[in-house]
Amino acid sequence: MVSTVITNIGELVTNDPAAGDGLGVIRDAALVIEDGTVAWTGPAAGAPATDESFDAAGRAVLPGFVDSHAHLVFAGERAEEFAARMSGQKYAAGGIRTTVERTRAASDDDLRDNLRRLIGEMARQGTTTVECKSGYGLTVEQEERAVRIAAELADEVTYLGAHVVPAGYDTAAYTRLAATDMLSACAPHARWVDVFCEQGAFDADQAREVLQAGIKAGLAPRLHANQLTQGPAVQLAVELDAASADHCTFLSDADVDALASSRTVATLLPGVEFSTRQPYPDARRLLDAGATVALATDCNPGSCYSSSMAFCIAVAVRDMHMTPAEAVWSATAGGARALRRTDVGHLTPGARADVHVLTAPSHIHLAYRPGVPQTAAVWKHGHRVG
Ligand code: NIG
Ligand code: FE
Repeated sequence: MVSTVITNIGELVTNDPAAGDGLGVIRDAALVIEDGTVAWTGPAAGAPATDESFDAAGRAVLPGFVDSHAHLVFAGERAEEFAARMSGQKYAAGGIRTTVERTRAASDDDLRDNLRRLIGEMARQGTTTVECKSGYGLTVEQEERAVRIAAELADEVTYLGAHVVPAGYDTAAYTRLAATDMLSACAPHARWVDVFCEQGAFDADQAREVLQAGIKAGLAPRLHANQLTQGPAVQLAVELDAASADHCTFLSDADVDALASSRTVATLLPGVEFSTRQPYPDARRLLDAGATVALATDCNPGSCYSSSMAFCIAVAVRDMHMTPAEAVWSATAGGARALRRTDVGHLTPGARADVHVLTAPSHIHLAYRPGVPQTAAVWKHGHRVG
């Protein structure tokens, strides 16, 4: 296989924990890709000979973004709902049912094409690991179809049959279905089980029923937690050693303490608060308490139709008081932790060669120049994808 050196890197963000500072920056660096993995990093002058080379022209190179939370198997869009929100209407989980109708009516190819379009859009912005949830089917056949299609294209697949209760169902009966037949149909295609644990969706007991059944079926838990209210979901996530509690917008002190003393990552999704005009989650409080924080897009047609991790970083820095270094770490290494992956989110030898070359000289520019495309080149698993 062809080996490639990316040379003349002004700032190489490795996220190497051994490097002392959070981002493990190497200046005037080079990085060698071989067989889809990072074979070598170090000062440019010492780089080994390779078949091909790419001149980074003094710019910054980062690990590809790890977007650990997205809902990408859907049809249609909800621009009118967004416009109504911007003129004062509140976000409610009920909007999900609009997308469920559109999704059920779409063909497999329509869903596949839309998913491919979004993953391509993400790759061109530097995202090289994508988690994708089901949750717009809400019947055994439709949920199975969603996870099966997600598994064709996404890196990580999550079964979210317990997203909302579909029209015509009683919550207890639907919960049972999500924890039995629907789960059995979906488990072979997924690694994760997720529940929207929230007022208007599933309470803690119902969430526990689905998650424990998922664990028994070989899936690992993650949770939509405390998005709209200060409910019991974060505590449940920690109790079940979930990889991640996602949203974390309304937290009690006990929730923050529980996250800080657990392996459960707090995944913050600032695009949602931006697009639903809600208060942002308090990233500083979580970081200062010692919790691990990830940033992800939550890309979906309702609460946040953005696939841009750079946008999340800019908002996290501007409005959630994360430093640029913390935000970049959370969008790369943090996302990898939220997916319990050790092969992505860093650029040390042996890592998957997911490499994001910026048009800018430092990672700070991602927050400093919001809204400006700053991706020069992207490799995923050693292949150019952007
Ligand atoms: O993460 N909160 C639940 N699910 C999605 C929203 C899905 C939708 O509105 O279509 C979320 O925000
Ligand atoms: Fe979500």
